[in-house]
Amino acid sequence: MQDEPVNFTMVLFGANGDLAARKLFPSLYQLARWGHLSGSYRIIGVGRKTLSHEEFRSQVREKILSFSPGSIDDEEHFASFCGRFFHVQVDLDKIGDYYRLQKEIMHVSGEPGLCSHLLFYLSTPPALAPVIVRHLRESGLGGKNMECSGWRKIVVEKPYGINLHSAKELNSEIGSVFREEQIFRIDHYLGKETVQNILVFRFSNGIFEPLWNRNHIARVEITIAENFGIRDRGAFYDQTGLLRDIIQNHGLQLLASVAMEPPVDLSAEAVRDEKGKVLRSIRRVTPRSVETSVLLGQYEGYRSERNVAADSRTETFAAVNFFVDNWRWKGVPFLIRAGKNLAETVTEIVITFACPPQNFFGPPESCSYIANQVILRIQPEETIALRFGAKRPGESVITDPVYMRFDYRDSFQEPGMTPYHRLLLDALDGNQTNFIRQDSVEYSWAIVDAIRDAVDGKMPEIYSVGSWGPPQANELTG
Ligand code: BG6
Repeated sequence: MQDEPVNFTMVLFGANGDLAARKLFPSLYQLARWGHLSGSYRIIGVGRKTLSHEEFRSQVREKILSFSPGSIDDEEHFASFCGRFFHVQVDLDKIGDYYRLQKEIMHVSGEPGLCSHLLFYLSTPPALAPVIVRHLRESGLGGKNMECSGWRKIVVEKPYGINLHSAKELNSEIGSVFREEQIFRIDHYLGKETVQNILVFRFSNGIFEPLWNRNHIARVEITIAENFGIRDRGAFYDQTGLLRDIIQNHGLQLLASVAMEPPVDLSAEAVRDEKGKVLRSIRRVTPRSVETSVLLGQYEGYRSERNVAADSRTETFAAVNFFVDNWRWKGVPFLIRAGKNLAETVTEIVITFACPPQNFFGPPESCSYIANQVILRIQPEETIALRFGAKRPGESVITDPVYMRFDYRDSFQEPGMTPYHRLLLDALDGNQTNFIRQDSVEYSWAIVDAIRDAVDGKMPEIYSVGSWGPPQANELTG
């Protein structure tokens, strides 16, 4: 597909980092190959290392070849794509380096007055974001009061701050340089096809919506499980922990998509209004409720991982029973369970419906055995299943659960875009629907901060690698 040509310059902070190598370079290349980047565009990588443009281009080439092998089918096009990369060495604390960056942007974009379309992309640790933003403002690179026709935007990777206080500080720092409609806070889960389909599933099908409330739904369980550990991210992970790495963003965003009211329309503001309301309605965990609603775990051997403190109390597993205190959901538990080094890698949302008022086909406890469920499998399979009871063939009337399944890959042959393809395009188009707004990021931090305060540094339960986490997690009631 060929889009309208857009000329832009992307300034990528953290260009020598892991995310740039694994996701951003390969995604940009794919977008170029598919014809989505048809204008004149340039990418300026900003990093601490001193690299010539040529050295940086070879690095980009090498990363794309190793993280997206097989994607290069036209060597000439690939070479011309790599030729669009430039490198600027910047010491992030030095204002003088930002003036140098400014000159390079003008040189590369061919626009002396900084009037080109400019996208800043912060793929840096959370502590660096305020420093970068402050220096963008001081060096005149901010976009709030532009006097020419080009656009200016900023994309900020997660984690956005490390708690409510730092997120508010960052919001206020960024807010002094960019307007909210210029700010794109990334949660890559929102770029997943199956996550975007939650809204479509809910609001394009008349049969589910009347049942989608406390009168018919008994509980919701969201699982984000990974069968690998922290890999080589010990330094980051030990400071972060699972609540901040997964629950604050991916977990709560999935919850908000399941629980939100229908938006008044599909505009970014309308969708984000409704998600914000859900997050605002989530009951805060307190020191009194923490015992029954939160269980943290740490996998066996975590403390021996590289760059992890030998006495670390960082959680690698969390199960939290949330309640959304509004008319639709009052009293329905939303369990989010997530962890590293668990039995499987799977992300799914299971919506369990209430039992029928009378159970003709077995003892009362059999209801949970056949309770109706909608199972939204986000990954690795991309499926939706509906579970219901059916009569087991034979003389006696025994009910068994059976499933009707929809599989994306069977029904749609087109290869989907990955989250980074989609989100990069959305940011370039200025579509903020799948980016987190300031209010939501703050509500989510308030929820996670309350849990952390209530847990008060208590040692998480140890669980075995390859298990489903500490068994006590199954006893949470809320
Ligand atoms: C990231 C977390 O945001 O999401 C990682 O920092 C996690 O710890 C990753 O592994 C999971 O993303 P995905 O798309 O592989 O499920």
